[in-house]
Amino acid sequence: AAVAWEAYADLVVVGGGVAGLTAARTASLRGLKVLTVSKGGPTDTATQYAQGGIAVVGDLRTDSVDSHVTDTCAAGAGLCDEDAVRSIVAGGPAAVAALTDLGAVFDLGRDGAVSRTREGGHSTRRIIHAGGDATGAEVQRALGAAGMPVLFGAAAARVVTDADGVTGLIVLSDKGVGVIHAPSVLLATGGLGQLYACSTNPPGATADGVALALQAGATVADVEFVQFHPTVLFSPGGVGRRPLISEAVRGEGAILVDGNGDSVTAGVHPMGDLAPRDVVSRAIADRIRTLGTDHVYLDARAIDGFAARFPTVTASCLAAGIDPARQLIPVAPAAHYACGGVVTDVHGRTAVPGLLAAGEVARTGLHGANRLASNSLLEGLVVGERAGTAAAERAQRRVEVAEATLPALPRADRSHVQALMTAHASVVRDGDGLSTAAAELDEAPVVIASSVADLEDAALTVSASALVLAARARTESRGCHTRSDFPQTSEVQRRSIVMRMDADGAL
Ligand code: SIN
Repeated sequence: AAVAWEAYADLVVVGGGVAGLTAARTASLRGLKVLTVSKGGPTDTATQYAQGGIAVVGDLRTDSVDSHVTDTCAAGAGLCDEDAVRSIVAGGPAAVAALTDLGAVFDLGRDGAVSRTREGGHSTRRIIHAGGDATGAEVQRALGAAGMPVLFGAAAARVVTDADGVTGLIVLSDKGVGVIHAPSVLLATGGLGQLYACSTNPPGATADGVALALQAGATVADVEFVQFHPTVLFSPGGVGRRPLISEAVRGEGAILVDGNGDSVTAGVHPMGDLAPRDVVSRAIADRIRTLGTDHVYLDARAIDGFAARFPTVTASCLAAGIDPARQLIPVAPAAHYACGGVVTDVHGRTAVPGLLAAGEVARTGLHGANRLASNSLLEGLVVGERAGTAAAERAQRRVEVAEATLPALPRADRSHVQALMTAHASVVRDGDGLSTAAAELDEAPVVIASSVADLEDAALTVSASALVLAARARTESRGCHTRSDFPQTSEVQRRSIVMRMDADGAL
């Protein structure tokens, strides 16, 4: 392709959320020349929308790293890498202290200490929050205020490598094709909520990092484990990004009931409405199916001072004509988080020298088959910082992108991919539906991507194929992967499904 502009950097960061900005800042403080690119604007990130908070061990009289590790591994349903979990959880307090030094302000309790709430799967109150239920917005604000330069409106098209690893990144923007020569590229591109008709994710969550990493020769794992948040504000026919009703609402006492007023989770799990997310989403999906309806309700009327504690949720509800202090909130599960992704160590390193990944796009082993609530901002902070440090390892290398070719990938229409995935790869899956989805995705023509929309559609198509491939192979139910035809968990399948792309583009 004709090259409109070129630049040189020690590290290119792709994505402007918590992991990307943390890495960019760390690498800059170490003297690296960092260029950060982001498809959207400063707040078009999943970080911006995170509500509940950051899970981090605080008061050692009531909590411990061991306890946080135990809860994380229990939610992860046998697939967490316990060493990775321990490493990341133990890094939490220092990462939060660094964020506080940057100016992030967390809510305090009446005693003047940092307030901690509870969410599903946590055995104690350890989740810190900001602005009530606007934690992500405060994290984004504080990191943004640190002043890292970001090239907005620029999408990553291809990570370029040679025999020694990364040589740079091809970028598409309204200025045309750009080439950034750099020995390290960090993928901090977030998740894949746009694979589904309804999601809590912003429009840019199109699985870009998974496609970029596969093309560069890295592996992905655990991609079948898409977490559906149990309580997303329901409205008839509502598609696209749907407002989240934070799990902290249940942490503060709200209960889930069906249209008859019966509890949705009674008898399902000892933790009831605060069971891990996969359990609660499944219970809601079951009840919806049994009653032939499309939503259940969250009853938050008993929470004192709801509007002050949950201003974001209150605003979303009021905009939909519901007053949560007096009325039940209609909710249903929606796609929320990719538990798997690009395989990395706890420093964000992939198997391709110079290719790093951090945040939702990465699979460090922290989440296993189901992420524990509020462990994601934690991971973005801890691994983002480490990846920024790891980039220094190759900073002295002089590299050159040899050829600015745009990627040729299978590309189906986005609405078609969303319809397939919503019908066949949601909360409950089965072999027949997954086979139908696979056959349809296989029909997608290979096309050279020449616009940001092309890149996104191709990334969605490739990652949908990867997800469906893994979901077909996993003939069991585990974590947030539920097969109606294989309802049991199978001990022999207690391992991650890892895949890569061969030279012909096959997974
Ligand atoms: C929530 O506030 O319920 C979302 C928290 C998370 O996804 O970790």
